Amino acid sequence: MNDTPSATESIAALYKRYVMSTYAQSLALVRGKGTRVWDAEGREYLDFLAGIAVTAVGHCHPRLQKAIRKQAGTLIHASNLYYNEVQPRLAQALAERSLGGACFFGNSGAEANEGLIKLARLWGSQNGGRWRVVTMLNSFHGRTLATLTATGQTKVQKGFEPLPDGFDYATFNDVESVRAKITDRTAAVLVEAVQGEGGVVPATPEFLRGVRTLCNEKGILMLMDEIQTGLGRTGRWFAWQNYGVEPDAFSLAKGLGGGYPIGAVVAAPGLASTFQPGNHGSTFGGTPLACAAALAVIETIDAENLLENAAARGAQFKEGLEKIAKRHPFMTAVRGIGLMVGLVLDRPSKPFEAALRERGLLAIATGENVVRFLPPLTVTAGQVRKALRIIRATAAAG
Ligand SMILES: Cc1ncc(COP(=O)(O)O)c(C=O)c1O
Repeated sequence: MNDTPSATESIAALYKRYVMSTYAQSLALVRGKGTRVWDAEGREYLDFLAGIAVTAVGHCHPRLQKAIRKQAGTLIHASNLYYNEVQPRLAQALAERSLGGACFFGNSGAEANEGLIKLARLWGSQNGGRWRVVTMLNSFHGRTLATLTATGQTKVQKGFEPLPDGFDYATFNDVESVRAKITDRTAAVLVEAVQGEGGVVPATPEFLRGVRTLCNEKGILMLMDEIQTGLGRTGRWFAWQNYGVEPDAFSLAKGLGGGYPIGAVVAAPGLASTFQPGNHGSTFGGTPLACAAALAVIETIDAENLLENAAARGAQFKEGLEKIAKRHPFMTAVRGIGLMVGLVLDRPSKPFEAALRERGLLAIATGENVVRFLPPLTVTAGQVRKALRIIRATAAAG
C-alpha cells in the first residue's frame, strides 16, 4: 500500500490547515494554455469555465504575457495621487466602445458594483434626495455588505444581518414589478443583461427596453452589472449592445484583465462628473500593471476578431447542446447569449458537473439545476466539438 499523499492531496492539506474554507475545491490546477489546463497529477482538461468568465483570451495568451512582463519591468504601481500613462488609455478604450463618458478603476466585481452604487447615491443626493436602488430577485452582485444586499438571493445574505438599508427587490423580466418598487426615494435600477449566477437567464428585450423607458420616465438612473457579461462574452463588447439599450453606467471586472484583477465603473459623460476628488478611491485601482493587462485583452479581442468568434462559437455550442438535449429528456433547456450558456437539467446539476470533470471538461453547476459554460472567447470550433463529445458521452452514461 502506498500512503504517500498525491500532489493534489498535499495542496488540499495545506488549504485545509491555512486557508479559510470559503470554497469547496475539487482540483488543483497548476498550468494553463489557451482553453486547456492541467492539474497537479498531470491530467489535462478543456476549460469551459475560464476562471468563472475571467480568462477571456485564454490561459497565458502571449500578448497578455508580453504586456504584463513589459509593464512589470517599467512601473507596477504608482498610486492614484499621480497620473500614470496607462490608466487613461484604458479608460479611453472602454469609453469609446460604450457610453463615451469616463471610468473609475478598482480591483474586483464587488468593488466595481460598490462604486456604481456610490455613484448612484451621490447623484441621488444631488437630485432630490434619492438613495434607494431597485435590484432584481435572483441577481448576483458580489460579496461585500452592500453588494450582497444588492444581490436578490437570501442564501448569500443569511447570517450577515442587519443588512445595509437602501435596496428593494423586483422580479427579473417583469417591468411592472420594477415600476411597483420605484418611489420618490429611488435613485437607480440595477440589472444584469443575463443573470449568470442566477442560472444563465437572459433578460427579454422587452424587459431591458421597458426598464430604460421607465428610468427615463421617472428621471432615475439605469445601471447594469456587466461583470460577467462584459468584454465580449455575449458577442458584443457589452451585453446591453445586443438589446439596443444604453444604461447610464455599468460595472466591469472578471474578463477585463484576462486574469489580472481589475474592475471598472463606466459612466455616461454627465453622470461620470458626479465623482469629485475625495468622493471615492482605491489604493490599487487602475495601477499601470492592471491597466496594461486590460489594454492587452482589448487589443487581443480586436486583433483576433474575438467578438465574432464568441458569437459564432456560442451559436455552434448552443446548437450542439440542443441536439444532445433532444435525445436526453433530463436536459430540459439550453439558454444564454454568445459564450455564456446554461444547460438546464430536471435534477441537481452538481453530479453532472463532476461527471464532466471526470471526462476532462470544466464547467460549473449554478443554482440548483443548471450547468453553466463560460469558455474563453478564443475557443475554437474543434474545441467546441470536443466539449460536445464529452457532454454527449456523459449524458449517455446517465
Ligand atoms: C454579475 C456579477 N456581479 C458581480 C460579481 C462579483 O465579482 P467579484 O467576485 O469579482 O467581486 C460577479 C461574480 O461572480 C458576477 O457574476
